[in-house]
Amino acid sequence: MKILLTGASGLLGRALMKVLSNHNTFQILGLAYSRVHNGLHKLNLLDKHAVTQLVTEYQPDVILHSAAERRPDVSQSDPEATQDLNVHATAHLAQLAKNTNAWMFYISTNYIFDGTTPPYHPDAPPNPLNVYGQSKLDGEIAIQNITDQACILRLPMLYGPVDFIGEDAVTTLAQSLVETPEIKVDHWSPRFPTSVEDVAQVCRHILEHKSQHTDFNGIFHWASDPSFTKYELAQKIVQELDLSTTLIPDPSPPSGAPRPKNCQMDCSALKNLGLGVQTPLQQAIQVPLNDFNRLRHTL
Ligand SMILES: NC(=O)c1ccc[n+]([C@@H]2O[C@H](COP(=O)([O-])OP(=O)(O)OC[C@H]3O[C@@H](n4cnc5c(N)ncnc54)[C@H](OP(=O)(O)O)[C@@H]3O)[C@@H](O)[C@H]2O)c1
Repeated sequence: MKILLTGASGLLGRALMKVLSNHNTFQILGLAYSRVHNGLHKLNLLDKHAVTQLVTEYQPDVILHSAAERRPDVSQSDPEATQDLNVHATAHLAQLAKNTNAWMFYISTNYIFDGTTPPYHPDAPPNPLNVYGQSKLDGEIAIQNITDQACILRLPMLYGPVDFIGEDAVTTLAQSLVETPEIKVDHWSPRFPTSVEDVAQVCRHILEHKSQHTDFNGIFHWASDPSFTKYELAQKIVQELDLSTTLIPDPSPPSGAPRPKNCQMDCSALKNLGLGVQTPLQQAIQVPLNDFNRLRHTL
């Protein structure tokens, strides 16, 4: 199976590259833009001509589309750039997938929901509260309008191996906890922090399943449980890093782009197919915390 992976230099994309290149069922070409290393191919997804040329030449069986602007506050302050990458580039890839008979595998987010009526089934009505969530939903809609040979996988907050402190929520939080002796942390929104290494395995399972069941298409959810507010996550980090930081639970919504309160997703469709992997947070969090310790001592 020939896979074209966008966003291969990103938090999730690196985990996908690692897992998929370890299986000889898959031949994978990873795309990056500003962080081109480890054999990745440089491509600006906003350059439609270059994207068309590459897809036409490579003739993938699957376009696994992970690249996106995924920082809600950045999207909120630059909706047009977000729209260009998250919607227009996605629509273009979907059209190319259709033209070349490739399967479109799109990574989306639980931020397409408003967080008021969890748990959300894949067919629950979306109602994004911020520009980022709207753009990812518009990407989903664009794909659905172009091709029915597609899979949309919605994910919650991700963490895992990081290239820099602040690349995921765990190392961002760890940095604040190290720097601040007493800190208020969001205890308003339950999150479902999920390891990118688990997500990469789930994607591998989906791709293997697709190779056996050619009619497999649709919208799916994946997340770990149980939930953690950022305050509860901070408690774990304080414990693991042996910090003396005083944590104060903050019961009010965070500032910045509006966030949904509780976007818990119903993941039973993939679980029922036996396709899921869930590493307990206590275990998987060691990966970004080890990176955090290594990176902060090299600063
Ligand atoms: N991170 C989360 O907590 C989270 C939660 C739910 C869903 N998701 C979804 O999961 C997917 C992966 O997210 P992530 O956390 O891995 O994102 P990320 O770490 O921010 O990576 C973004 C990727 O997009 C690439 N990219 C950005 N602009 C580009 C352009 N113009 N042309 C080509 N590539 C471009 C980046 O390439 P360079 O870095 O090389 O420029 C990078 O590989 C996204 O679709 C996101 O919406 C993420």
